[in-house]
Amino acid sequence: MQLPPSLRAAIERELEGIALADLARAADALSQRYRAEVQDGRLHLSDEVAARAYLTTRLPATFAAVSAALNATAEARPDFAPRTALDAGAGPGTATWAAAQLWDSLEEATLVEASPAIRQVGEHLGLPLARVRWLAGDLDAALSDPASDLVLLAYVLDELPAAARRPLVKQLWQLTADTLLIVEPGTPAGWRRIIEARDFLIGAGAHILAPCPHTRPCPLAAPDWCHFSTRVARSRLHREAKGGTVPWEDEKFIYVAASRHAGARAEARVIAPARASKAAVTLKLCQEDGYAADRVFAKRAGDSFRAVRRLDWGDIVRK
Ligand SMILES: C[S@@+](CC[C@H](N)C(=O)[O-])C[C@H]1O[C@@H](n2cnc3c(N)ncnc32)[C@H](O)[C@@H]1O
Repeated sequence: MQLPPSLRAAIERELEGIALADLARAADALSQRYRAEVQDGRLHLSDEVAARAYLTTRLPATFAAVSAALNATAEARPDFAPRTALDAGAGPGTATWAAAQLWDSLEEATLVEASPAIRQVGEHLGLPLARVRWLAGDLDAALSDPASDLVLLAYVLDELPAAARRPLVKQLWQLTADTLLIVEPGTPAGWRRIIEARDFLIGAGAHILAPCPHTRPCPLAAPDWCHFSTRVARSRLHREAKGGTVPWEDEKFIYVAASRHAGARAEARVIAPARASKAAVTLKLCQEDGYAADRVFAKRAGDSFRAVRRLDWGDIVRK
């Protein structure tokens, strides 16, 4: 996954003149805070250097994860053409950039963000939409009517106290005219937060568009957990700031897309990397009956093998 050229160019402009040593220090501090899911009452993106480090080291990965989740959403609802979006905890506007890239129909976005530093960076990037409104402040105070076609909450639940998550999901669902997408890091803790949100949304009458092909309880149990992966190209600056040499990274993520409208039904979703041998392909499937299981598709089975042989982690098995 590559960033759109206009976003890449805007990021490069934003990073001009910043000392690599400062960027590397801020990137390191940021990774440590994210990894430990620190909640000390301070925002992670509290100053200008941290905000710029986010652009280099985290934005490409969150953009790729949100794009993958939005693609799965659009696959379930090919007729969905959002005109308005609300991006809660927008950071530099990553999720809105991903939505704008996917849907030409998108005209207006409201982005709510508490950190002045990352809000300013986001404003500089210049989203390619007709109307963009940035709202300063805390989510519970800044969110208000009217409802938006698409509501996005990407990599934010992990920064909130446990008691604040459910009221926020409830508030965002009330502000959702059509579809709400929540994305979290693909860790066991991120999965548990998504399960909590999913349970609430199903209870509120939402249709789950993706990734689950059913609305029964999640069939996975710890130490197993549901997550997906997307490969992200690393820029030269990213490699230099993080001291890495590999030109890509795999971003693990988990999400739920909930809608007021039903989507196309899928038979199953592939929830682990496909395992291929000479004679068969084995897919771990979350199925529409609410169960998860490994299924072996033997080459000699002909049609059923051909139907799945190109599927991989994250794909749906069509009905
Ligand atoms: C990890 S960043 C994700 C940014 C963006 N959604 C993305 O996917 O790249 C989380 C963002 O949520 C913001 N945030 C956290 N708690 C917030 C709150 N209570 N109100 C508003 N923004 C908040 C942070 O300042 C930060 O910019």
